[in-house]
Amino acid sequence: MKGVFILDILLGKGGQVEVVLVFKNTEKLHKAQELYDYLKERELFKGDSGEVYSHVSHNGSNVILLGLGEEDKITFDGLRKTFYKLGKEMMKLKVESAGVTVPRFNDLCYGKTNMAIIEGLLQSEYGFEKYLSEKKIKNKVKEFYLDVLEDKKKRVSEVLEEAKSLVSGIFLARDLVNEPAMVMTPKELSNRAKEELVGLGVEVEVFGREKIEELGMKGFLAVAKGSANEPQFIVMKWNGDPSCDEKLALVGKGLTYDSGGYCLKPADSMVTMHGDMAGSAAVIGAMKSIAKSNLKSNVVGIVAACENLISGEAYKTGDIIGSMSGKTIEVLNTDAEGRLTLADALWYAATVVKAEKIVDIATLTGACVVALGDVNTGAITNDEGLMKAVKEASLLAGEPVWEMPTNEEYKELIKGTFGDLKNTGGRGAGTITAGLFLKEFVNNTPWVHLDIAGTSYLSGERGYLPKGATGVPVKTLYHLVKESILKTDCGCSH
Ligand code: BES
Ligand code: MN
Ligand code: ZN
Repeated sequence: MKGVFILDILLGKGGQVEVVLVFKNTEKLHKAQELYDYLKERELFKGDSGEVYSHVSHNGSNVILLGLGEEDKITFDGLRKTFYKLGKEMMKLKVESAGVTVPRFNDLCYGKTNMAIIEGLLQSEYGFEKYLSEKKIKNKVKEFYLDVLEDKKKRVSEVLEEAKSLVSGIFLARDLVNEPAMVMTPKELSNRAKEELVGLGVEVEVFGREKIEELGMKGFLAVAKGSANEPQFIVMKWNGDPSCDEKLALVGKGLTYDSGGYCLKPADSMVTMHGDMAGSAAVIGAMKSIAKSNLKSNVVGIVAACENLISGEAYKTGDIIGSMSGKTIEVLNTDAEGRLTLADALWYAATVVKAEKIVDIATLTGACVVALGDVNTGAITNDEGLMKAVKEASLLAGEPVWEMPTNEEYKELIKGTFGDLKNTGGRGAGTITAGLFLKEFVNNTPWVHLDIAGTSYLSGERGYLPKGATGVPVKTLYHLVKESILKTDCGCSH
């Protein structure tokens, strides 16, 4: 697994700087007591969660105090954020090597505790800096020692490998999204999927325009028509459990650019539309993590990649288009393009791949950003059991999901006049009507739709998530695949 991270995490005692963990209101530390008493008295360091105080000098003191907040309130997400901050602080101070003793916190699972710590440290390394003449991240941390409980060493070394696989998938998803549309064309996306996944044992098949036409994907083709770049239909198969033929399909929206088409977006809304393939990036990233971790389960990733542009060939409002399912659709708005591409990708997942379960991930609606901002991913389902599994996975991942209602009444809004359906349901309940539109194309397969319009891309750094692409919900997809199939505990009996 060499190459992805500069930071090497090692198990045992070591490092030039010792990181001392401090709970809020702790009296006694095993080290740096004088320093701590001094700081505490002056309220310069209180042990709040995420608080970092470094005392690193050329001669002598080599200690960083790291606040964890109140001991009984520690969470995995808190640990991720705290160790992310530690990583950033070490870079700033040019500390190249450090170590920490990892105790057991209350009744938190020790494996997951270490997973959160490692994830936070690795996350601090991310930056999309390939186009910067002068890099912002200059001094990456080289080694970090985790002194773990003796009888948990083996478990933590497994967790370490798992965290690296997971974070490398998150970084891949971010890189794919952050790449400008001039580079990340549908062809480039399919090439990257092959480059990243084939070597890991994922079978990657790519269809060009001709095969897409043959399959009758008229919704997808209508959107792709306005662009000179050829659409690509990407199918990625991970066969982790050959003894079973059940499979989960992960379907990602893959608009490598969304101008809105003839219903052109305003300039400000268009700036980040190279990120309209974040769903497909999350699928490709998750496939990478799943394959690297060798998860025992069958997963098929599906992406319909194209651009939504304007040209003499582009589709227009009022057009009545077909779809692979046979259903016809009136185009009331060319900017509601994602659902047209997904309609065919979902139908393919349900009827050609014959997946037992489907999860789609899409930057589908601005309405979702209005409703939930960039904190919660919006969700819609036709199967509460699958939704429960997704929610559990999202909790483990620290990637919040909020389910939207799907009362029958909403469906009226997308019934067509001259075609079976229309591609928008008007201003109200935009996330719900978009989701219900997709539901028409899953052929009753248990399905969850995740709208990541808000959560996939941040206008500023938050916690361990960077400005720009977040890689959400790679972790949720990973845990969904891992937990739902293996159905075991974390492998560590606390
Ligand atoms: N890609 C956009 C949704 C989006 C908006 C993603 C903001 C990320 C941030 C999608 O294709 C779109 O344009 N949706 C329209 C649908 C409407 C015309 C029914 C929207 O939300 O305005
Ligand atoms: Mn659009
Ligand atoms: Zn879009």
